[in-house]
Amino acid sequence: MLKKLFSKKDIATAVKRLALSIEKDFPGEEIVFICLLKGSFMFTSDLIRHIRNPSRIDFMRVSSYGNTMHSKGKITVTKDLEEDIKGKNVVIVEDIIDSGLTLKSIRAMIQKRKPKSIKICALIDKRARRKVKIEGDYIGFTIDDGFVVGYGIDYAEQYRNCPDICIIEKRHNAGK
Ligand code: IMP
Ligand code: MG
Repeated sequence: MLKKLFSKKDIATAVKRLALSIEKDFPGEEIVFICLLKGSFMFTSDLIRHIRNPSRIDFMRVSSYGNTMHSKGKITVTKDLEEDIKGKNVVIVEDIIDSGLTLKSIRAMIQKRKPKSIKICALIDKRARRKVKIEGDYIGFTIDDGFVVGYGIDYAEQYRNCPDICIIEKRHNAGK
């Protein structure tokens, strides 16, 4: 069962706020936005529409989750960047920080390519299951726990098209 957690309106307000903070940190400078596929495609496209800096956009895909609800803690790059990010201001755009394992590996990978700066922009910061020390620089929403879908975020490839962010509530009699 899906329960609405953040509405379209809540999301639009949060996205605008994030865009303003990013603009403030990089006055007039060029930014390379790295959209982590697939979960942050909708978030990234809304976010960059509010950014007035000269901007580039690139995509990266790593797999870590499969179709389960828990991170395996190991990631593989299945689609790498095409842009050269050396000397650039990079903003990594992620849907959710959960254990933090995914972003920690991605950040280390990006760091090796010697950008001028790296910031992390995450739509949702899920704090209860954090396993490694990593903090987002720009956070849309903070939640404790729970599995969320919608606004680009999936469960087993479903629900990405839902315009709101919803929480999946387990039915107590599931499987009976
Ligand atoms: P981490 O490595 O545990 O931080 O996992 C982060 C990734 O797991 C995110 O990029 C999401 O793709 C996925 N993920 C974590 N929590 C959720 C959730 O509640 N719904 C859907 N995907 C999630
Ligand atoms: Mg993801």
